[in-house]
Amino acid sequence: MDKIQKKYFAQNVQEGTSIEDVFFIKTLNEKKDSDKRYYMLSLLDKTGTITGNIWTESYKEEYRKYNEKFVKVKGTVILHQSVPKIKISQMNLVDPNAVNIEDFVYVAPNLSECFKQIQKRISEITSPSLKQLVQYFYGQKEVVSHMLRAPGGSEIHHDYVGGFVIHTTSVLEDALSYSENYKVRSPRKYHLNKDLIISGALFHDIGKLKEYKQAPIFKRTKSGKLMGHILLGIEMVSNAACVLQAQGIQLNEDDMDELKHIIASSHYKDGPISPQTMEAMIIANSDRKDSDVSAVESQLHKEGFHSNSEEDVFTNYNRFHETSFYFNPGGSCSL
Ligand SMILES: [Fe+2]
Ligand SMILES: [Fe+2]
Repeated sequence: MDKIQKKYFAQNVQEGTSIEDVFFIKTLNEKKDSDKRYYMLSLLDKTGTITGNIWTESYKEEYRKYNEKFVKVKGTVILHQSVPKIKISQMNLVDPNAVNIEDFVYVAPNLSECFKQIQKRISEITSPSLKQLVQYFYGQKEVVSHMLRAPGGSEIHHDYVGGFVIHTTSVLEDALSYSENYKVRSPRKYHLNKDLIISGALFHDIGKLKEYKQAPIFKRTKSGKLMGHILLGIEMVSNAACVLQAQGIQLNEDDMDELKHIIASSHYKDGPISPQTMEAMIIANSDRKDSDVSAVESQLHKEGFHSNSEEDVFTNYNRFHETSFYFNPGGSCSL
C-alpha cells in the first residue's frame, strides 16, 4: 500500500496556509455554545500537537467517533491569541496502514537485529516444553508484528515503537551476561537455569502487549489499567500453557511455577511478590537497570538535549526518580 506523504507538521505550520494532511486525534471534545455545537481537537504528529476547531458550519455527528484515530484534515491555519490553530472544514478517517508511523512517533531503528538476537537465544533453550511455550508467542507472525510495534512503557521508559523489543533484548542479554559472570566467578556456583533466564526475560513484560494501545499514543488499555502487565503476563502464559496442553504438549510444572514467579517478581517489592529464586533476582535486576537508564535517556530526549548543546543543562524534575538529570554536552551520547 502506498503511504501518505505528510507535508505539514503540527509545530511548523504557518498562519494563512491552506492544508490538507494527516494527523492523529489525541483528544476530541464536543463543546456547546448556546445552541451551537462544535468540536475542539488536539491533533498530533511527531513534532507535537496543534489545536483544531470544527465550528458549527462544518459540524458532523460522525466526527465524535474519530477520537484516537488517524484523519485527513482539510482547513486553514489561523492565529488565535498568537497561537496557530487549524480551522477545519472537512475531516475523513484514514487507514492506519496508509500512514508512515515515523511521521507520528519515534521508531527504534535496529529492531530486526534485536529480533535476530532473540531468535538466536530461543534456539539455545534446551527444554522442549519451555521452547514451545516461548515459540507460542515469539514464533507467531501476528504476535511478532505486534511486538515490533509495541512500546516498552508509556511515559517513563522505552516509550516508542519497538520499545518492547529493545527492552526485552536488553534484559535478556544483560541477564545472560550476568549469569555467565556468576558462573565464572562465584566460588559456590549454585546452578543457574539458563532456560529459565532466557524464557523469563522474554516473558517478564509480555503483558505489555495487552497493557498498552498501539502507536502513536501508548495509553493504557482498560485491562492494562485494571490488571497491569505483570498479572496480564501471567494470564497470557497460563492461557498459552493450556492451549499447548490441549495439543498434547505437557509443560513441566516446576518450570511453569518458576517462570510465573519470574514475571510476578520482576518489579521487586513494587509488584505482587519479591524475587525468591536466583533466576528471578537476576531478571528483576536486569529489568530495573535497563528501565532506569532508559528513563534518563527518555527525559533528555523529550527535553531536546543533544550532543552539541553549548551549556551544561539539567532536566526538569523527574517524579519517578525524584531528581533532575544532568546532560554533559561534551559527552558522547547522541540522541
Ligand atoms: Fe515490567
Ligand atoms: Fe521490564
